[in-house]
Amino acid sequence: MTTTAAPSTARTGPARATFTHPGVAFGCDWNPEQWDRSVWREDVRLMRDAGVDLVAVNVFGWSQVEPRPGEYDFRDLDEVMDLLAEHGVRANLGTGTASTPPWLTTRHPEVLPVAEDGTTRWPGGRQAWCPSSPVFRERSLALVEQVARRYGDHPALALWHVSNELGCHNALCYCDTSAAAFRRWLRDRYGDVGALNAAWGTTFWSQRYGTFDEVLPPRATLSTRNPGQVLDFQRFSSDELLGQLRAETAVLRAHSAAPVTTNFMVTDHIRDLDYFAWAPHVDVVANDHYLDHRLADPTTELAFSADLTRGVAGGAPWLLMEHSTGAVNWQPVNLVKGPGEMLRNSLTHVARGADGVCFFQWRASTQGSEKFHSALVPHAGTASRQWREVLELGATLDRLDEVAGSRVQADVAVLFGWESWWAVDGENVPSTAVRYREQVLAAYAALRAQGVTVDVVSPSAPLDGYRVVVVPALYLVRDEEAAAVARFVEAGGTALVTFWSGIADERDAVRLGGYPGAFRDLLGVRVEEVAPVLPGDVLTLDTGQRARLWSERSEAVGADVLARFADGPAAGDPAITRRAAGLGSAWYVATALEAPDLADLAGRVLADAGVATDPALAAAGVERVVRAAADGRRWTFLVNHSTTDVALPARGYELVTDTAVAGELVVPGGAVRVLREEPVR
Ligand code: GLA
Repeated sequence: MTTTAAPSTARTGPARATFTHPGVAFGCDWNPEQWDRSVWREDVRLMRDAGVDLVAVNVFGWSQVEPRPGEYDFRDLDEVMDLLAEHGVRANLGTGTASTPPWLTTRHPEVLPVAEDGTTRWPGGRQAWCPSSPVFRERSLALVEQVARRYGDHPALALWHVSNELGCHNALCYCDTSAAAFRRWLRDRYGDVGALNAAWGTTFWSQRYGTFDEVLPPRATLSTRNPGQVLDFQRFSSDELLGQLRAETAVLRAHSAAPVTTNFMVTDHIRDLDYFAWAPHVDVVANDHYLDHRLADPTTELAFSADLTRGVAGGAPWLLMEHSTGAVNWQPVNLVKGPGEMLRNSLTHVARGADGVCFFQWRASTQGSEKFHSALVPHAGTASRQWREVLELGATLDRLDEVAGSRVQADVAVLFGWESWWAVDGENVPSTAVRYREQVLAAYAALRAQGVTVDVVSPSAPLDGYRVVVVPALYLVRDEEAAAVARFVEAGGTALVTFWSGIADERDAVRLGGYPGAFRDLLGVRVEEVAPVLPGDVLTLDTGQRARLWSERSEAVGADVLARFADGPAAGDPAITRRAAGLGSAWYVATALEAPDLADLAGRVLADAGVATDPALAAAGVERVVRAAADGRRWTFLVNHSTTDVALPARGYELVTDTAVAGELVVPGGAVRVLREEPVR
């Protein structure tokens, strides 16, 4: 049946809903529109076999369900939703707005995004829409309204999936519509143009604005651009897409009591959206994560991203909305997963707080640009190793159902801020070899090497309850955020701050009087000059430790000097310091220590704070993370990344193998074990 858009009959829905699921969810994107109907029934039957119980549909459905403007055809989607309900598979229903149908951009080419050099980004791929386009907003919300009204009470509906990876390709648009929206955003933020001029420091290079109408997005320039303008454009762009999420969500909530989410991209290579600001607007945080083999250590990045997703979720359980059974299709060389790796990666996310493990996608496509992306059902069909591993994963996740709802336990926090990411990786900095995520990951890897679990949290997160707070390269910091770190230390906490922290305020204006500005007094160090070195150069400290990238000409003002630069431009000056402050202590490292030396330093800092470490277990390749339920039950996840069996003293019940453990637990090489601890009597 083809229906025409009916007038809105919005009812007043509850403001917020909770996502509940029986146990740990196992799911995927399902794109039945790519397949003949005859395949659909086999699909749902196989889903049941594998234990797949949460399926994302209609994610890229727009051109199917609205083939012509205002004409909706839900026949196929009706059948798909009914089929899911019939088979007891829950739907994670896409609003379908992720990618525009050709009729929209043909009729309204002004919807198309424009790159910083003024060139249009054409349809033919996906997500070719400007986040500020009023036409896109109107047409997309009209679609959401139809979908919400039709399926808002459908028995299969478990969760709404707004759009898809908002901002994956189109986060930054420089068109005239975006320029006007940017000006509106700036007017709201600054009120008058004088305040904008002050915030951006526009006396520099004759950039002073007379009115807001003269302001543009930071389009391609001959020289480098105003950093304040670039930073605000990042903030604006994140807010603009958040506006789309909020608008779609408002329509959904008006017609449906089901919870709402969207898939975030907390990962290394996407940096445009400040998910700490987004998270309060979804009912459950969901994240997509793919191993990035362009990185030196993809597994550490996986653990970090999972911990950061949990931080974004405020510590609450979250959903892994997408990862892959094997190779992706978008890296230069797309590596397959080794035997057991998919299960290991999946359970690493569960260990770190995920209550669901989902994949892109159910069945590998035969056409389109993702046809060589892995799937649960590969091109080879079910007579394949990948499918057998999918069955094994499904069975394993079933046995882990009891951990759903529990929370990860951590004594250590790492502060992470998208604004620092934007600023540190900007133009005209002391060294472009210093990349924000790399420095945060280096600190994280050092803590991981000590075998401790880390919460990765916003610079404005509450710090009470932690024993150690690590502040890596937190360049842009607000006064109150720096004050919270100082209070944490005064009250008995231990802080480790790494170089290029505390430098600028929220306008990206440098804090005067010596670096590291906002943390100078707490650390008892005053830096007169930062002195980066060439990427290949090695710096030596008088302790024999080695470092790279960075040194500082500084003096200790109240801190104990634990190591000095032995060579390089800051020879003789402090490299590692510690200052006792109040009941706690504040450590500073003024360079990028090589990994083993940074791990060693992390060990000393953790010992200083009395945090139990297990570097031997970490060195054996085993990650250990504890989740605890409100009723006191605890589960220890042990992920063995090595090829060697590791034995540990343990007592309780092991869920993966379904066996009691009395004394010793062996975690075979490449395997994962989840021990329900015996309650302490
Ligand atoms: C993202 C998208 C999916 C798909 C996968 C491929 O996660 O959301 O639609 O493109 O990447 O890895």
